[in-house]
Amino acid sequence: METLTPHFTLRGVGVTLNGRRILEGVDLDVPKGRATFIMGRSGAGKTTLLRVLNRLNECFPGSETSGEVLLHLERGVVRPYAGEIALPELRRLVGMVFQHPNVLPMSIAGNIAMPLTTVRGCGRDEAMEAARLALQEAQLWKEVGDRLDADARTLSGGQQQRLCLARTLAMRPDVLLLDEPTSSLDFMAARGIEELLEGLKGRYTLVVVSHGRKFAAKLADDIVILRDGRVYKHSGNNGTDLDAGLEGLDTHP
Ligand SMILES: Nc1ncnc2c1ncn2[C@@H]1O[C@H](COP(=O)(O)OP(=O)(O)OP(=O)(O)O)[C@@H](O)[C@H]1O
Ligand SMILES: [Mg+2]
Repeated sequence: METLTPHFTLRGVGVTLNGRRILEGVDLDVPKGRATFIMGRSGAGKTTLLRVLNRLNECFPGSETSGEVLLHLERGVVRPYAGEIALPELRRLVGMVFQHPNVLPMSIAGNIAMPLTTVRGCGRDEAMEAARLALQEAQLWKEVGDRLDADARTLSGGQQQRLCLARTLAMRPDVLLLDEPTSSLDFMAARGIEELLEGLKGRYTLVVVSHGRKFAAKLADDIVILRDGRVYKHSGNNGTDLDAGLEGLDTHP
């Protein structure tokens, strides 16, 4: 049997937000370089689970995370919640692309270069070169390479989603958290993002929240189904299991 290298290990993880228990007893193994899909009904806790991985639930006052979270790095295993990795480094290594593209109110180039100069301390030329490479990797360069100074808010929804992905890729993450990356897009733009993610598979550890069965069937290595804040099922991707596990959930084709 294939031995998988773990990237994240979660044991008995619980999250309380604003006095409400949102996740309970979550055990999860995220293998390195694979695509783990998190599926389940609206409100099941999928986004909250993604936010466990980069400590983003802490942005909500009064949030509490319990249980064990291990991040496996080349230098060894660290426990992010025990402060064994600095928060900026964690957020760089574990990049997140949100459901709705959150472009910054500035130029296309600035959206990628600004975090690099302010967070990573890159010089302007280095940041611009990194921006070009990230835009190429996110399949956006051909569309925007000649108007990098244009306001990012003038881009289409699909282009904005790819710009947000490029911004995250430019930080050179190991893990990409993608929260319903195609949900706010039309069919063609969604297909474009799906194809792009197929190209990223294997080079990054992907953790993807999705309602799309076909997308999951095509891209996922592992599928985790959440129900009411608990892991209902965790399986490899084989069609029969997927259909049985998703029965009754609000997925789309
Ligand atoms: N900051 C918060 N404070 C209090 N409750 C929250 C907070 N964020 C999320 N919740 C609640 O936690 C539960 C899980 O939310 P979450 O966003 O993780 O669900 P989800 O599975 O991603 O749903 P969807 O598919 O609709 O995005 C919901 O009941 C939600 O109302
Ligand atoms: Mg969500």
